[in-house]
Amino acid sequence: MAHFKEISPNASAGEKLMNWVDNRFPATQLWEEHLSKYYAPKNFNFWYFFGSLSLLVLVLQIVTGIFLTMHYKADATNAFASVEYIMRDVPWGWLIRYMHSTGASAFFVVVYLHMFRGLIYGSYRQPRELVWIFGCTIFLCLMAEAFMGYLLPWGQMSYWGAQVIVNLFSAVPLIGPDLALLIRGDYVVGDATLNRFFSFHVIAVPLVLVGLVAAHIIALHEVGSNNPDGVEIKAKKDDQGIPLDGIPFHPYYSVHDIMGVGVFLMIFTAIIFFAPELGGYFLEANNFIPADPLKTPLHIAPVWYFTPYYSMLRAITGEMVKVLILIVLASGALTITKAQISGFLKIVVAVFTLGLAVMMYSVDAKFWGVVVMGGAVVILFFLPWLDHCEVKSIRYKPDWHLYMYAIFVVVFFVLGYLGTQPPSPMGERISQVGTLFYFGFFMLMPWWSKMGQTKQVPDRVIFHAH
Ligand code: HEM
Repeated sequence: MAHFKEISPNASAGEKLMNWVDNRFPATQLWEEHLSKYYAPKNFNFWYFFGSLSLLVLVLQIVTGIFLTMHYKADATNAFASVEYIMRDVPWGWLIRYMHSTGASAFFVVVYLHMFRGLIYGSYRQPRELVWIFGCTIFLCLMAEAFMGYLLPWGQMSYWGAQVIVNLFSAVPLIGPDLALLIRGDYVVGDATLNRFFSFHVIAVPLVLVGLVAAHIIALHEVGSNNPDGVEIKAKKDDQGIPLDGIPFHPYYSVHDIMGVGVFLMIFTAIIFFAPELGGYFLEANNFIPADPLKTPLHIAPVWYFTPYYSMLRAITGEMVKVLILIVLASGALTITKAQISGFLKIVVAVFTLGLAVMMYSVDAKFWGVVVMGGAVVILFFLPWLDHCEVKSIRYKPDWHLYMYAIFVVVFFVLGYLGTQPPSPMGERISQVGTLFYFGFFMLMPWWSKMGQTKQVPDRVIFHAH
């Protein structure tokens, strides 16, 4: 019993209970490390609401998902009807279902804003690389989760959306057709597909997501939060080791975040009660028609949160692959002539470049579309090593960097819009230019992020009491 912490016999019953627990489980220690003694920068702004909101939506999705699972039937003949049954007959079923379907879109809204905050304030940079990498993995899982969830209502869009996306895997050289078969469990999207997507959607992916979110927050609390100034608050501490610009997360930010939650819930409930389909952006009209394997809808488009990537997929035509080959050859030539590397390395670069160009030419453009679509997400993982700017936050980067980020946002929105539209020659051209900008933004970042005159970063964070 020697290692047990003693407590005064005069302590209150509550204190005695806590002492009993703490001697067996680090409850107080965890509370202090992550809440009451976690010192967060005092200058958090609007952009810092979206981490806690992502957590809130995660919990909402899990809870509403559990109740939906009680009434849903993962079976190709009954799935559509079971969703209708939830909507019409299950008490409050409509609310649970709309919370879950609106929650899916809300998840992407808050996560995109959360990622954007990281992008503009350089929160991915040293020492927060792992926080960012866990975040990117969360984003990938979230995409998989949403994609598989969308098949479950077994409407026309569920069915044909899954058909289109799973078929993409068949474009992978050599193993493609077998891979697509493995994913579907059948030669077409069918009952086997529905069952495996259901099991992944309700248990496998959420389990991984929850684990990743825990890792994300533990990693963040290990290094401490960044802030809109990109100043490390741990660099200036008082004599008790507390950052001068830090305030305890609880009660300051726990209470502050309640305001964000309040505003979020107002918008969220307004959508649920007044516009749950949100003009076809959250729930598509075609998905109110049961899946019909014999009738392809005229226009198949994914839900809004996938459309920027969908545009990139559609942008990769045979013609575009030729442009990409030219870019690969030009980069190879530039590396060989300009980079200070040995003769042997130059030969390696030349062989690699030519090999890649030949491969790009000989494999179907559809496959490169898939590579580009996947690459658009994978490239985010490398961001911590692409940004070479002296300063972290956009506030102190040269002004024209701000314009670069602004164009990036516009391009992302335009790609997103085009992805919702039927294909057109004009749309195709614009999405090709947009795709080139998107990749150029990241791949050329090591070069452009170093350019221009940065502004003086203050010693301490800028804080205006409010
Ligand atoms: C389920 C999804 C997610 C949840 C629940 C979540 C949760 C959180 C929370 C609670 C914080 C601390 C509060 C804050 O700084 O806002 C945080 C910070 C952070 N998250 Fe996430 N996150 C998620 C997804 C992502 C994604 C997809 C990324 C990036 C790809 C990301 C990158 C970051 C970064 C860089 C920070 C540190 C920000 C800073 O200190 O300035 N997170 N996250």
